[in-house]
Amino acid sequence: MVETSNDPLDGLPRAEQAAIQLPESLVDGFDVGRAFAASVQPTGTTLSREQVFKRLLKIGQLVKLLRGRIRHLGVDLTPMIAETGVWRGLSARVIALAVADVRPGWTGAGLHLVDSFEGLGAPSTEDTVDDGTGERRAFSHATNFESSPDVVRSALSDFPETSIHTGWIPEILADLPDRKWDFVHLDTDHYIPVRDSLAYFLDRMAPGGVIVNDDYGSNFFPGARIGWDEVRARHGLAHEVFETGQAAITVD
Ligand SMILES: C[S@@+](CC[C@H](N)C(=O)[O-])C[C@H]1O[C@@H](n2cnc3c(N)ncnc32)[C@H](O)[C@@H]1O
Repeated sequence: MVETSNDPLDGLPRAEQAAIQLPESLVDGFDVGRAFAASVQPTGTTLSREQVFKRLLKIGQLVKLLRGRIRHLGVDLTPMIAETGVWRGLSARVIALAVADVRPGWTGAGLHLVDSFEGLGAPSTEDTVDDGTGERRAFSHATNFESSPDVVRSALSDFPETSIHTGWIPEILADLPDRKWDFVHLDTDHYIPVRDSLAYFLDRMAPGGVIVNDDYGSNFFPGARIGWDEVRARHGLAHEVFETGQAAITVD
């Protein structure tokens, strides 16, 4: 995207620009643009202008899948929702806002967030790409995902029943409650956490439950696609791939 100095929206906070430029960001009656704008600041998430739009489109797709699932649950059932790869809580906060919008008074019960809070782990061979010189190397993010459970707890302070699990995937998955899951968001970039999270949750999904992989189409993090496809092939499962690069499995 080309940035111009005379853009009339320059000077506004980035998330506000996104909300203003995407007035059609209503998803199932829920204003994703507003929720996104109301989540960037409390989480202290820094995004480039280009990332704002990419993230917003992905979050719109995520909310669509999430709401589709939540609406099918009886109102007396606690929605069981997990996210692996939380960083500062941006998508987690939008998820919480989108659930609370259909479940007035919901304060985070059943929402489980999993992260090392130490950034990405060591890359596997599957996480490397040809850097153009014939050498393979693994990409990292400039921020390396600096965060902490306290940052996320504070960003989700209006959802105090949210559970935060701090540690490395796969080991930390043993910390999760033994429940059937309705909706799972995988957003960990790397091969091992995507592969092992998918294998873990596939064995524990409620009928009709949905698992979304944020990074399936990423050119920079091929391991997220390789790990997902390996487990999917083992289970003989179809999936849907979206224009945003996300992929989703709906479990029968
Ligand atoms: C792309 S960020 C998540 C972005 C977040 N969902 C958001 O909306 O801003 C990836 C996160 O995955 C976490 N992560 C990556 N590999 C992990 C692993 N093996 N175990 C636990 N956390 C991991 C990193 O710490 C980082 O916070």
